[in-house]
Amino acid sequence: MRELVVPKITFVQADGSQSELEVSRGHQSVMEFALENGVGGIDADCGGSAVCGTCHCFMTDPDMFGAIEPNEEAMLGLRPDRENNSRLSCQLSLSDVSADTTITLPEFQM
Ligand code: FES
Repeated sequence: MRELVVPKITFVQADGSQSELEVSRGHQSVMEFALENGVGGIDADCGGSAVCGTCHCFMTDPDMFGAIEPNEEAMLGLRPDRENNSRLSCQLSLSDVSADTTITLPEFQM
């Protein structure tokens, strides 16, 4: 019998502090999951509409998630701290997390 392995997301704050959370399956975004679990460093001022950029994060495994849509690309383009692995956590489906991964949050959102 195969053992069910639940993936974990480690959220790393700009000051180096970390929270490791087991992914609970659902249809929520990574942003919603983080907020529901009290993870700091994500403001999510627009509530997930990809128009504020305050849920910006840096992915260790950017290929785990779907492609960047034009509206997300436009918002990321306004972030001065954008990197090649930048995403908006409100546009990432928690159901895409298939293995343990790490998400780092920018200093701007501390
Ligand atoms: S919550 Fe506003 S862009 Fe993600």
